[in-house]
Amino acid sequence: MNCKVIAIENQKGGTGKSTTALNLGIGLHNAGKKVLLIDADPQGSLSISLGIKRPDELDISLATVMGNVIDNKPFEDDFGIIHCSEGIDLMPCNVELSGIESYLFTVMSRECIMRTYVNQIKKNYDYILIDCTPSLGLLPINAFVAADSIIVPSQPRILSTKGLDLLLRTYYRLSEAYDRLYERYEQLKEYCKSFLKAMELFPEKVKTFLKKLLEKQEKPKAPKTKSRAEKETAR
Ligand SMILES: Nc1ncnc2c1ncn2[C@@H]1O[C@H](COP(=O)(O)OP(=O)(O)O)[C@@H](O)[C@H]1O
Ligand SMILES: [Mg+2]
Repeated sequence: MNCKVIAIENQKGGTGKSTTALNLGIGLHNAGKKVLLIDADPQGSLSISLGIKRPDELDISLATVMGNVIDNKPFEDDFGIIHCSEGIDLMPCNVELSGIESYLFTVMSRECIMRTYVNQIKKNYDYILIDCTPSLGLLPINAFVAADSIIVPSQPRILSTKGLDLLLRTYYRLSEAYDRLYERYEQLKEYCKSFLKAMELFPEKVKTFLKKLLEKQEKPKAPKTKSRAEKETAR
């Protein structure tokens, strides 16, 4: 299988990373693709969304397989993978991944551990989506190195936008070390540039847009049909 690996990252929390991973994954499955979601956020939101009630109680998670890669311990391709009722596969995650992140600092080729895992299993899938943690630490860096492309869900808000600059700088550093990331750096730069330009060059337009968007969010439209209580009072 010619697998496409996509990392979903923005170092700001709450921008829709896990939601994108889940919905894109299920959409691709509905289009007939074989999909694996890797939960790479120690909060385990994606695992919880897919029905794992207590991720911290799992015996095997992403932390286990990354630990095996670090220790050169062989394991089967489907080791720890959960086949969800939605039809997609999940490599779940829990708080143990935070421990692995600290441990990674002492490991040789620390940014390539997730790539080694993904390279072992990618023959079994059309798509692997990696839901990243909101930081620019070693876990998202591992995901960037493992991935063929990245999706950066962002919001037209100042903190989400400022975060893009930092993301771009991290990616730049990586692209200096990894040739295959360079082309993606150029694409990401263009994306960030156009996003930032929109914020800077058209402040009024953007502000009006934002204002309308926020008003829309804050004031949901009144339902068209009268509620039962209203109908009864009108009688
Ligand atoms: N496109 C969207 N429109 C409106 N709300 C969204 C959208 N995508 C995500 N959300 C909501 O935003 C919140 C944060 O999303 P989540 O995917 O958990 O973010 P992250 O993984 O980046 O922290 C959730 O409550 C989710 O339901
Ligand atoms: Mg998330």
